[in-house]
Amino acid sequence: MDGPRVALVTGAAQGLGLAISRRLRAQGYDVLMGDVNADGVTDAAAELGGTGLVMDVTDDASVASAFDALHGRALDVLVNNAGLISRQPAQEFDSAQWEREMAVNLGGTMRCSRAAYPHLRQASSPSVVNLASVGSTFGLPQRLGYSTAKSGILGLTRTLAAEWGPDGIRVNAVAPGYIETQMMLSGFASGALDRDRLLDRTPLGRFGTSEEVAAAVAFLVSDDASFVTGTVLKVDGGITIDGSFHARVPSDSEVVSN
Ligand SMILES: NC(=O)c1ccc[n+]([C@@H]2O[C@H](COP(=O)([O-])OP(=O)(O)OC[C@H]3O[C@@H](n4cnc5c(N)ncnc54)[C@H](O)[C@@H]3O)[C@@H](O)[C@H]2O)c1
Repeated sequence: MDGPRVALVTGAAQGLGLAISRRLRAQGYDVLMGDVNADGVTDAAAELGGTGLVMDVTDDASVASAFDALHGRALDVLVNNAGLISRQPAQEFDSAQWEREMAVNLGGTMRCSRAAYPHLRQASSPSVVNLASVGSTFGLPQRLGYSTAKSGILGLTRTLAAEWGPDGIRVNAVAPGYIETQMMLSGFASGALDRDRLLDRTPLGRFGTSEEVAAAVAFLVSDDASFVTGTVLKVDGGITIDGSFHARVPSDSEVVSN
C-alpha cells in the first residue's frame, strides 16, 4: 500500500503556514514544517504531529539540509509560504531591507521550488502552491519591497507551471486578501492599514480567516484541481475586483431613476 502523501510548508511556525500545515495534517499528510523560528516551529510541529525543520529560505545550504529530511522520498506538495513585509517610504527604502524582502518572499520561493524538484518528480500528482498577495494586484504604498516581490511571485508561478508541466508538476498561487493574522494586525498597529476602509471596500464585508486560505491551498493541491496550473486563486473577499468607488452602495429604495 502507498504511504501517506508528504507535504513541506515553509514559514509554518505561525499564521497562514501553521493553518495550512494543520489542514494538510488533518487530511492525513505527513507534514514537514519549515521555519527560521526554531522554537516556534518545534512547538508547532509537536502540536500538530508534524516534523519541524529549522530552515532559512534565503540560504541555499539551509534549504538543502531541510530537503535532506526527506531522505530521497517523494514530495507530493510544496507550499512556499514564508514571507516578510516592511513599511517605509519608497524614496527612503533601505537597500538591505529591499534585498531581504526579495530574498525571503521571492528568492525563498525559487530556492525551495528548485530543491523540491527531484522529490516532486517522484510523486504521482505533485504540486506547488506559492503565496501571492493583494500586493500582486494593487500598488501598495509604503510596501515597495513586498509588493514588488509578490508581483514577481506571479511570474515565477507561471514560468514554473509552463516549464514543469511536462513533468506532471502543477504550480499555482493563492493570493490572500486581508486575513486575521499577525501580519495584518501589525498594519493596524502601525497605522498603515485602516480597518473600516478595508471593510468598506471588501464586497463580502469582512476579513478572511487563516482556515479559508488553507482551504484554498487544499483545493489546489487536491486531485479536484488536477487540470489547474499556472493560475492565481484570490482568497480576498473580492477586494481586488471592487470597482464601486462609492462610500457605500445605495439600497434599492434610494436609487432614483430618471
Ligand atoms: N496575513 C495576510 O493577511 C496575508 C495576506 C496576503 C499574503 N500573505 C502571505 O502569506 C504568507 C504568510 O503570511 P502570515 O500572515 O502567516 O505571516 P507571518 O509573519 O505570521 O508568518 C510568516 C512566517 O514566515 C517565517 N519566515 C520569515 N522569514 C523566513 C525565512 N527566511 N525562512 C523561513 N521562514 C521564514 C516567519 O518566522 C513566520 O513564522 C506570507 O508569504 C505573506 O506574505 C499574508
